[in-house]
Amino acid sequence: MTTTLIAAAAAAWGLARLEAADIETARLDVEVLLAHALRTDRASLIAHAERRLTEDEGRRFEGFVERRVLREPIAYIVGFKGFRHIDLAVDKRVLIPRPDTETLVEVVVERAAHGARVHDVGTGSGAIALALLDERPDLVVSASDASDAAVDLARANAARLGFEVPVVGSSGFPPGRFDWVVANLPYIREDEYEGLDPDVRDFEPRMALVSGADGLDAIRELIAGAPSGQKLALEHAPDQGAAVRALLASGAETVADLAGRERVTVGEAA
Ligand SMILES: C[S@@+](CC[C@H](N)C(=O)[O-])C[C@H]1O[C@@H](n2cnc3c(N)ncnc32)[C@H](O)[C@@H]1O
Repeated sequence: MTTTLIAAAAAAWGLARLEAADIETARLDVEVLLAHALRTDRASLIAHAERRLTEDEGRRFEGFVERRVLREPIAYIVGFKGFRHIDLAVDKRVLIPRPDTETLVEVVVERAAHGARVHDVGTGSGAIALALLDERPDLVVSASDASDAAVDLARANAARLGFEVPVVGSSGFPPGRFDWVVANLPYIREDEYEGLDPDVRDFEPRMALVSGADGLDAIRELIAGAPSGQKLALEHAPDQGAAVRALLASGAETVADLAGRERVTVGEAA
């Protein structure tokens, strides 16, 4: 349908298609998808709005728009997501890194001593581990995930970005000794799952999202396996701060995210 159209007309077609499907971010999405189909960036797209699409480009663009109509997240369609200062390859095997998780990275960047050994549990795409090493090259960073598919993708991201980060398959507290163990584990309650946005529920891995009746199974398993005195920094939902502090030794503190919501709890295993 968009074959041989000029870019501006293809964009108008895509916009109408996404708006008809009630995609709230239709305008931005269509620009990103068209730029991706044309293998260019959004700025050049605007500068070359009169450029005619080749047949291949038109077909690619239509395919991307139809995937978005079915609510597939943009990051899976383009295959990448920016997080902090790095770009991570992502696909449906891993959670798409969220801006919420920047708070966890900031906490560790600010607090870890020079040369500290930091381990990222539930690394997914490798987002936290790789962003930490990018921002604090002095740290000795490693990572693990209970999903073999996530381990493969995190290793591929580390290799592509040229970072030395060993990634192992492991559930809960990993083998080894660390100064800090950091984690953005799944924390959504079972009963919240059906009500999630379809972009999330129908595409992102369930095991990256949901963790038992109160959402805290994975966090509890991690803390239970940690040696006494182990420093931990744990991301959680805004209403889970008190529950996570209660799982740790006294003195644990919760840090708010940019929106002022309790987001990361820092403390020691009892
Ligand atoms: C919310 S995702 C976070 C991914 C990544 N850390 C990020 O922030 O983008 C949670 C990750 O934890 C992994 N996971 C779930 N349960 C786990 C467990 N018990 N032990 C280790 N990893 C687990 C999932 O496979 C998933 O990759």
